[in-house]
Amino acid sequence: MELWEAIRGRRSVRAFLNRAVPRETIERLLEAATWAPSGGNAQTWRFVVITDPAEIRSIKIVSPGLLGDPTAVIAICQDLVQARAKGGPLGETFLAPVDAAMATQNLLLAAYAEGLGTCAIASFHRHGVSRLLKIPEGIEPILLVSLGYPAQSPPAPPRRQEGVFTFGANRE
Ligand SMILES: Cc1cc2nc3c(=O)[nH]c(=O)nc-3n(C[C@H](O)[C@H](O)[C@H](O)COP(=O)(O)O)c2cc1C
Repeated sequence: MELWEAIRGRRSVRAFLNRAVPRETIERLLEAATWAPSGGNAQTWRFVVITDPAEIRSIKIVSPGLLGDPTAVIAICQDLVQARAKGGPLGETFLAPVDAAMATQNLLLAAYAEGLGTCAIASFHRHGVSRLLKIPEGIEPILLVSLGYPAQSPPAPPRRQEGVFTFGANRE
């Protein structure tokens, strides 16, 4: 798929078919995520993949922003201990979430190119998800991504361009 098509065509999907995504496909998406840039090339992101329907149901209970019934959920996490060790307080508080966001966008675009639907989700209970997924201390889920074959193709929410970018100090 052409890059521009992926950038413009990707939508947040909140309704999914009951059809599992093959593990090799998910692995390709995770590889795409790890090709994202990261501050100081720290790569302190961690990914937890959940495909068990019962586990997904439990995650949904603590994730009000997770809509529909995806066949997979990926918890995008950061190893904040390593992020601090590599980048100090800036690494932990700033680089880690930025890196996670960049990796997530790679994953979303790669999924779209594979004919899959995704939604980035910030509305979830971090401690609840950590507990359910037995995520070790020091590693924090920053975003969830729901993943599956789409059962909808939502219209593009409008994008504003006026007043969003300026060129130079003279605001041309
Ligand atoms: C950081 C972040 C958090 C988001 N959290 C949620 C969420 O909790 N639940 C949800 O349904 N969508 C969530 N979204 C999806 C946005 O609502 C969506 O990207 C936006 O409306 C634009 O639509 P589009 O992705 O189809 O272009 C989130 C997106 C981002 C980037």
